[in-house]
Amino acid sequence: MQLTQLQKDMLEGKHGYAAQKSMEILNALGDIFNAKEMVPVTSVQIAGVSYANLGEPGLDWLAQMAQDGRVRVLTTLNPAGMDLENWKALGIDPEFAKNQERVVNAFAKMDIITTCTCTPYLVGNLPHFGEHIAWAESSAVCFANSVIGAKTNREGGPSALAAALTGFTPVYGYHLDKNRQAHIAFKVEPSVSGTAQFGLLGKAIGDILDSKTEWTIPLITGISTANTDELKAFCASIATYGGTALFHMEGLTPNKTKVPQETIIITKAHLKKAEEELNEEGAVIDFVSIGCPHASLREIRYIAELVDGKHVKKETWITTARPTKQVADRMGYTKTIEAAGIKFACDTCCVVAPIKGRFTGLCTDSAKGCYYGHGRNKFQTKHCSLEDCIEEALRE
Ligand code: F3S
Repeated sequence: MQLTQLQKDMLEGKHGYAAQKSMEILNALGDIFNAKEMVPVTSVQIAGVSYANLGEPGLDWLAQMAQDGRVRVLTTLNPAGMDLENWKALGIDPEFAKNQERVVNAFAKMDIITTCTCTPYLVGNLPHFGEHIAWAESSAVCFANSVIGAKTNREGGPSALAAALTGFTPVYGYHLDKNRQAHIAFKVEPSVSGTAQFGLLGKAIGDILDSKTEWTIPLITGISTANTDELKAFCASIATYGGTALFHMEGLTPNKTKVPQETIIITKAHLKKAEEELNEEGAVIDFVSIGCPHASLREIRYIAELVDGKHVKKETWITTARPTKQVADRMGYTKTIEAAGIKFACDTCCVVAPIKGRFTGLCTDSAKGCYYGHGRNKFQTKHCSLEDCIEEALRE
């Protein structure tokens, strides 16, 4: 790979330990993927923040990097394993809380903005069309590439941090326009609306893509409209079930693509099958969670409307970014929602928080939430619309 003088200096340690280690990671990645050069990035999103996933080895590595490492571009953070301010009320173990704080402090020392959200694009880390960025977090990567039209590979925690600490990423994969063309088309026949249905569509298409051996980017037609919440639900789902980092949606996403030869028709039967697979028969629901990906102001406002004057009978969480909740506080949505017995869990989510064993069954409008709720936390799952999630929460 052709390196600039600055990149060579970083590699030789002239810009400190963290920049040197980071450049070594990026250089190795570039070699593996036959990149010819590196490109400056304008934005980074870092994942791998929960102490439950990092453990002491991960924390040791972060502490080493934080000794002299400082980010060179706007860098934000994925959800942590707990609400950083309200962890006690959510039943988090004090020992875990102490370690999680050490992790977040190490990131903050590197000047990473501790947003702790998987929707950075809702809270100020919003690149524009065509910008090269380095994001981790599969749902956010899919949103950035597809909905915004920025360019990023699916970074892991270390490679995203390396990009932040150097300001560069090797040019391969989704950074190259030739790799951003659709390979297969899906024509969606049924009309789809709401986060739950867009999640089902993401699973239906993702399952088909996952069964293919070659790298596939879909062009999706037949969707007349989708709001940001529906698109974030779709991104999370297709990224989870299909490993998709980029899709095109005719009339709704900004990237240009050639029209592929093969078209698969998505029917009501595909959506029904996806729904059946996410709904376990006889699931015993004792936990309702909304906000995977993190809930937007529109969703929180709507929940406030739905629960005004009522009271939930089951443990119910809304997971969201703290800045989003702060505006909800100002608007009185939080007061209405908390009066209904629902808890806010900022900075975290029902997948990365250490809640395995605390609940039997999860009800959510998120197809991704079902996948990880079942796979990681062994919850039985019920997947339904936002309105039905609230109904479930209100039921004895
Ligand atoms: Fe975000 Fe957690 Fe879902 S990181 S996309 S809320 S699994």
